[in-house]
Amino acid sequence: MSLDLAAETPPHAPDTPPADESPRAPLTPSTLRTVVRELAEQPEQWIHLVRLSTEERWYRRLVADDDHEVWLISWLPGQSTGFHDHGGSRGAFAVALGELEELSLGGPEQGLLIRRVPAGTARAFGPEYVHDVRNTASGPAVTLHAYSPPLGSMAHYDLRAGGLVRTSEEGPEQW
Ligand SMILES: [Fe+2]
Repeated sequence: MSLDLAAETPPHAPDTPPADESPRAPLTPSTLRTVVRELAEQPEQWIHLVRLSTEERWYRRLVADDDHEVWLISWLPGQSTGFHDHGGSRGAFAVALGELEELSLGGPEQGLLIRRVPAGTARAFGPEYVHDVRNTASGPAVTLHAYSPPLGSMAHYDLRAGGLVRTSEEGPEQW
């Protein structure tokens, strides 16, 4: 058997270092949690940017790196995301001001899980995670969110008797 070594030779000249075209490995949920926690503890970095919108949640991207992005979001009472995924990105969010409620589906034995996420706490999740985040409190909330890789798409779901049903998908052009 002969090996075709030519086929395995990289296309760049031998004296040129290969271009690193491979995407960087995504950050872990735990690292993303550290990112949003640390930023939540430094309001001087973002407090002057915060706006409130009665139309929908207000958001602004603070960081757009190759391997992750960070968003600042404000929530008036009653504003919510609905059930959604993160298009395969890992993520984390920290509540800096106010309080949110997070809904997710546990295993068959657990059903719907409802968590309070008060100021000073953070949640982190893997690439398959689906949740609904809402402000059920009486005052506004401000949160920091990190995703890795940066969000490429998000699908929305309805919670029905049989479980979550995918209803729509949006891409970066919608946010
Ligand atoms: Fe989310």
